[in-house]
Amino acid sequence: PGFSVEVLPEIDSTNSELMRRARAGQCEPVLLVAERQTAGRGRLGRDWQSDTQGDGGTLTFSLGLPLQPADWSGLSLAVGLSVVQSLHPELQLKWPNDIWWQGRKLAGILIETASAGTQRYAVIGVGINITPRKGGGLRTPPAALQELLPEVDAPEVLHRVIAPLVQAVLTFTTEGFAPLRSAYQARDLLAGQAVVCTDGTQGTALGVDASGVLLVDTGAGTVRINSAEVSVRPV
Ligand code: BTN
Repeated sequence: PGFSVEVLPEIDSTNSELMRRARAGQCEPVLLVAERQTAGRGRLGRDWQSDTQGDGGTLTFSLGLPLQPADWSGLSLAVGLSVVQSLHPELQLKWPNDIWWQGRKLAGILIETASAGTQRYAVIGVGINITPRKGGGLRTPPAALQELLPEVDAPEVLHRVIAPLVQAVLTFTTEGFAPLRSAYQARDLLAGQAVVCTDGTQGTALGVDASGVLLVDTGAGTVRINSAEVSVRPV
């Protein structure tokens, strides 16, 4: 599909804006980029700090498009995989939708959907840390892409990721997650690690199945995790 592209100097959240438009019946394919988000959102109601100017700069955008995959569950994995493949061989995926580098989070993905007639409208939000954040009270400072690729800036990163990302989303819609599974496994941060999930499951992460479900070996059997937060258990 053809996409319109909009760059805004400031918005509360690119995801919130596209969700508002979708609820108002605007369900065309669009790429919305914000130079600054004043209320960027993460998963599970968390906020996402961002400011492309100066310290701690990030690239923040949302891709909105009508979509009807047979199974939504692997979409965030397909999106994350596309982004890491476009950026750097050392980037890893932390199920279900974080991008990590050397034990620190580098990027996050927030996917939301609204109804659009007989279809659904998907809003795929991506935030990527570009410039390192100095100071700050966070226990583990987030990773930033310039630590791996010193020359890149936000426009360059957007240019690198966007066409493959659109293609990955369209391919996912027709083919699902199964063809992406082995590429995902090569980037899987959790596989083989001792993990704790927010639903209480503890064990060793085995990787993902053909639909993108996380498999955890609890010692008493393999549990399928459809949606939860997972943390790596300190050893
Ligand atoms: C997470 O780490 O939990 C997901 C973070 C997603 C952040 C991006 S930035 C662009 C888009 N707009 C938002 O408000 N959030 C997403």
